[in-house]
Amino acid sequence: MKVAVVKERYPGERRVALVPNNIPQLTKAGFEVFVEADAGREAGFLDAAYIEKGAEIVPDLSVVMEADMVLCVRCAGADHEAGAAMRGKARSGQIIIGSCDPLGQAKAIADWAPTGSILFSLELIPRITRAQSMDVLSSQATIAGYRAVLIAAMELPKMFPMMMTAAGTLAATKGFVIGAGVAGLQAIATARKLGAVVHAYDVRPACREQVESLGGKFVELEIDAGASEDKGGYAKAMDEDFYRRQRELMASVVAQSDIVITTAAIPGRPSPRLITADAVRGMQPGSVIVDLAAERGGNCELSQPDKRVVENGVLILGPTNLPAEIPNHASQMLGNNVVKFLGNLVKKGELQLNADDEIIRDTMVTRDGQVISERVSKLLNG
Ligand code: NAI
Repeated sequence: MKVAVVKERYPGERRVALVPNNIPQLTKAGFEVFVEADAGREAGFLDAAYIEKGAEIVPDLSVVMEADMVLCVRCAGADHEAGAAMRGKARSGQIIIGSCDPLGQAKAIADWAPTGSILFSLELIPRITRAQSMDVLSSQATIAGYRAVLIAAMELPKMFPMMMTAAGTLAATKGFVIGAGVAGLQAIATARKLGAVVHAYDVRPACREQVESLGGKFVELEIDAGASEDKGGYAKAMDEDFYRRQRELMASVVAQSDIVITTAAIPGRPSPRLITADAVRGMQPGSVIVDLAAERGGNCELSQPDKRVVENGVLILGPTNLPAEIPNHASQMLGNNVVKFLGNLVKKGELQLNADDEIIRDTMVTRDGQVISERVSKLLNG
């Protein structure tokens, strides 16, 4: 079976779907691997390294799209332009694997279906134990949480650790992390390692122990988060009354924080609005908010995707593609995720399009000219 890796074209996207060390794993499993020229360059992986590990370099997208399987970081709704170029060359029965933003851009999946190709969207990998090693959202969110703290540290006009010096005592930076999922926990760990005092809040009560195990302090809000977790381990959307109360109760914690990292996400929904413009104005000038949910509308009322917003001296950042800023490690993690996914999809050289396998069923979004993902179809039908 021939598998080919695309060179990403999305502005600022520096990741690649496979790294050289992944190639022997695939050739051993019987794949022939092709890589578009310079696909890994921006992540620090030169063509020569792929060749050394047994891949063949091909000149352009047209040749890549001749393969039986095509691997990319972004496709369909996650990169409309490159997605359209790939879509124009995709053929019936061909397998395309990448992140497609199916819940944010369902229409792009509908547009893809007529190609007849089988499109897998890796964001839909279920959060089950067996799929952990394939979970691209988790691997990339780890990087985003880490990077968000580094950005905040660079922007903050303070140092993180408490310091007792001959020139006086400096108080430790106070961090507040909202949403203690994958990105949030990594943000807590990173801010703690740099010496900040970190508070965190999540609607899922199960997070308390994890926050505390990283040295964070869980913020108790007098609000009943009740059954806030769905069976997939993700947060459920709460009603507007809940969010209003949460905003009010959190405003004092926000006001006392030097940096706030927000990561609160509900899959397939706009991000809950948790920090109002008034709450921002209650913060000290020089404070920094990094809103990781900016792409879905943001957790902070003032954040704008990929823009610097300053309100009353408070800086609000809404970076939407932090993993691409650490492309080497991000690609290593992504490549390992993709290899595991392929290992489940192709066994002993045979393609397993088995709908009884939750991982395959949940991630397959188009087949035989149709959108076949229930979640995407639901969005398309309003
Ligand atoms: P996750 O699902 O593991 O974590 C999100 C957490 O938010 C969950 O623990 C959930 O319980 C919590 N949450 C939901 N509603 C909340 C509320 N009202 N108050 C407090 N907590 C609440 O998601 P993950 O993988 O950690 O991603 C977090 C966010 O980071 C997502 O918005 C994701 O899209 C974003 N992300 C952003 C990147 C970037 O470059 N900007 C890169 C990767 C992820």
